[in-house]
Amino acid sequence: MTLAITGSTGAVGGRVPRQLADLQPRLIVRDPSRAPEIPGSTVAVATYADGPASERALAGVDLLFMVSAAESEVRREEHRSFIAAAARAGVRHVVYTSFAAAAPDATFTLGRDHHDAEQAIRDSGMTFTFLRDNFYADFVPYFADEHGVIRGPAGDGVFAAVARADVADVATAVLRSPAEHANATYELTGPEAFTMAEAASRAGAFLGRELRYEEETLEEAYASRRAAFGAPDWQLDAWVSTYTAIADGSCAHVSDDVRRVTGHPPLTIEQTLAG
Ligand SMILES: NC(=O)c1ccc[n+]([C@@H]2O[C@H](COP(=O)([O-])OP(=O)(O)OC[C@H]3O[C@@H](n4cnc5c(N)ncnc54)[C@H](OP(=O)(O)O)[C@@H]3O)[C@@H](O)[C@H]2O)c1
Repeated sequence: MTLAITGSTGAVGGRVPRQLADLQPRLIVRDPSRAPEIPGSTVAVATYADGPASERALAGVDLLFMVSAAESEVRREEHRSFIAAAARAGVRHVVYTSFAAAAPDATFTLGRDHHDAEQAIRDSGMTFTFLRDNFYADFVPYFADEHGVIRGPAGDGVFAAVARADVADVATAVLRSPAEHANATYELTGPEAFTMAEAASRAGAFLGRELRYEEETLEEAYASRRAAFGAPDWQLDAWVSTYTAIADGSCAHVSDDVRRVTGHPPLTIEQTLAG
């Protein structure tokens, strides 16, 4: 069985091949000079948008761990291009990092991209395993501005943030025994759900710095981000809908899937931030 892994220059995709070095994975990267050095692994070069390069990189691969691409206006096309290349290359099983409550009308607008990728994989006829990740707990401190304030329209909604390390552990377990996880969809969450105010205060207490949450209206959220970053509309929608998806409960469900698949409990936010 030949295993290929994308995203290995990043956080989630970087952990998985280290844990699966004995399977001698093929690392598909955009920039080979940044590929991690893992004894036994090989490196192939492709970006998701480059269909012919992707098909070459995937030749002979049976099992693929596909880390979702960086957010962009063309991410759906990039994903579809890579998924089509995988099917052409004869890949049999794709394990894909999706998002909690992925759906065509997901409140978190990027959840719609993930639904699109899931749909493309289903339509391809390849076996799939979808890892629907909640928001990454690792990122909570990075939501804050330079004064330690996280602002947004999250209300009193809760979310069940998951550690990227746990996502990688689930992927590792699935890739070791893919047949056991054929056509399964897992919801990857932390052990509990909390409000953004609780997340800020727990992350701040652990890191020894002041972090707090302040509610914004929807209009204020768009205006503050537009003024500060001058970002395009899709990016503003993605940022703001992070909070509205928490407000409406889209990311509130706590699942037992990390423990069921890996055999260990999911990390708390403090354990996540401890690295
Ligand atoms: N659930 C959440 O809260 C959350 C938050 C942020 C992101 N995400 C998603 O989860 C994914 C994994 O998270 P992470 O923290 O491991 O991200 P990361 O550290 O930024 O790593 C992303 C990896 O994907 C590769 N990549 C990105 N776009 C690509 C493309 N178009 N073609 C081929 N490779 C591409 C990157 O390669 P390079 O090194 O060449 O850039 C990198 O290896 C992200 O890519 C994103 O889709 C989820």
